[in-house]
Amino acid sequence: MNAKIIISKDKTISRIDNRLYGSFIEHLGRAVYGGIYEPGHKTADDMGFRGDVMDMVKKLNVPIVRYPGGNFVSGYNWEDGTGDKAKRPKKMELAWQSVETNEVGIDEFQEWAKRAGSEILMAVNLGTRGADEARNLVEYCNSETDTYYAEMRRKNGFDKPFGIKTWCLGNEMDGDWQICHKTPYEYGRIACETAKLMKWTDPSIELVACGSAHMFMPTFGEWERTVLRECYDHVDYISLHNYYGNPNDDTAAYLASAMDMDSFIKQVAAICDEIKAEKNSDKTVNLSFDEWNIWFHSNEQDKQIKKWQVAPPLLEDIYNLEDAVVLGNLLITLINNSDRVKIACLAQLVNVIAPIMTETSGRIWAQTIFYPFMYTSQHGRGTALEAVCECGGYTAGGKENIPYIDSAAVISEDENELAVFVVNRYLDESCSIDLSLSGYENYRPVQHIAIEGDDLKAVNTADEPNNVVPAEKSVSEGIILSPHSWNMIIFKEAQQ
Ligand code: AHR
Repeated sequence: MNAKIIISKDKTISRIDNRLYGSFIEHLGRAVYGGIYEPGHKTADDMGFRGDVMDMVKKLNVPIVRYPGGNFVSGYNWEDGTGDKAKRPKKMELAWQSVETNEVGIDEFQEWAKRAGSEILMAVNLGTRGADEARNLVEYCNSETDTYYAEMRRKNGFDKPFGIKTWCLGNEMDGDWQICHKTPYEYGRIACETAKLMKWTDPSIELVACGSAHMFMPTFGEWERTVLRECYDHVDYISLHNYYGNPNDDTAAYLASAMDMDSFIKQVAAICDEIKAEKNSDKTVNLSFDEWNIWFHSNEQDKQIKKWQVAPPLLEDIYNLEDAVVLGNLLITLINNSDRVKIACLAQLVNVIAPIMTETSGRIWAQTIFYPFMYTSQHGRGTALEAVCECGGYTAGGKENIPYIDSAAVISEDENELAVFVVNRYLDESCSIDLSLSGYENYRPVQHIAIEGDDLKAVNTADEPNNVVPAEKSVSEGIILSPHSWNMIIFKEAQQ
C-alpha cells in the first residue's frame, strides 16, 4: 500500500505547550506506595523515593504531574499529608475503598516532583470540602506571608514556597461515583467562588474547571455550558477526561480510537467559544486533557480486590502492542489539537494504568505504551505543523472512512529537527510513505523508530521486559511502515 503525507513550513497549527506531555500520580493502588515511594527498596533515596522509578520517569520527561487525584481528592484533607509523619492519621479512603496512611502528602510530593524535574498540577477537594480549604492550601503552598498556613509550611521545614502554578478545581464532579457529586449548576457555583478565593490568595495561578468525566456522559455538553456560564471569567482551562479500550477485541475499530478523542476535543473547544461569544468575552478558555489513556484490561481483576488494604494492586492494566499503537495515535491527536489543548496528563504514571510497572520490593519494567510516550515527549516539542494524509479508508465499529494513516509533524524550536509521527492502521499490510516537505526540501530522514510486531497481544513483563521494544528501521530505502505500527521519523537538514 502507498500513502502520501504533505507537510508545509507555512501551515502551522500552534506552538506546543510542553505540558502536553504531562502525567498523573493519584493516591490509588500502588502508584504512590510501592510505586514512587518505598523507603525499604534497595534503590530508595534519602526521602524513600524509589531511584529506579525516578530514572524511568526522567526518561519520559514529564513536565507536569497531576496530584493527588483523581477520585481520591474528593474526600482528601490535605493537612493529613503534612508535618510530622508519626502524627499523621491513617484513614478510610472512600473513593477506592482502601486505607490511606498519609505517609506521603504535598510535603513529600513537591520534593519528588522537583527531583523528577516536573511541575505539579495540584487538585483541590471540591467534594467533601470547598473554597476555604482550597484557599488555605494555596496559602500553604505558595504564600510568602507570615500568616497561619504559610507559617505552618515553614514549621514543617519548608521556608521557600512550593510555587505551584496550575490547579484543578476538583475532579469529575459530574460523575455519580464521585464523593459528593454535584449538578452542573452546583459545581459551577462552587468552582466560581473557590476560583476567586484561590486567585485572591495567589493571583499568579492558573485554574482548570472540571469538564465531563468522559465524552459519553449523559450530561456532556450541558455540563460544560452550565459550568462555564458560572465560572468563565475566573478559570483558564476546562478539563477533558477519556479512557479508550478494546473490550470486544475488535482491533480495526480500536485502532480508530484517536478519532473519538479528536471529536471530543473539537466539541469542547466549540462549547468554550460558544460561551465566550455569549459573554462577549475577550478571553479564550483552553483545554486541559488531564486524564487520558487506555483502561480496560484490569476491570475484572479489580472486582476481586479486598477492601481496606494499604496500596492494593488496583487498575494494573498490562498493555500489549496494539495498546502502544493506539496510545501513540492518541498523542498524534493531542499534537494536532495543540492550538487548544495546552495541558494533557497520561493517566497515570506508575503501576496504576501506567507506562511504568514495579514489583513492590522488587523489579521495574517498561510497559509497551512507555515507548511511544517517551519518543513523542522527547521529540514532539516545538511547533506543530499540519500533516495532511492522502490515503485510503476503511469501515469498522460503526465508523466509516477511517483513514489508514494518521500523522502529526513537529518542527523543533531551533528548526534543527523535524519529527513526523505516523500510525499505520492497516492490520495486515505495510504502507510505503511518500513525504512532501514544502519549505523543508533539504531535510533528510536520519532515524526511523517503530513499535511493530506480528503479535498484537504481545506484552512486557518483569520476566520478559523486552518483548515489545522500539525497532530502529533503515531510512536508506524509503519509509515503509509495518502493518499495525506506530512510527517516528526524524528529519534533519542535509549538510551542504
Ligand atoms: O485515573 C483513574 C480514575 O479515573 C481517576 O481517579 C478518576 O478521575 C477517573 O475516573
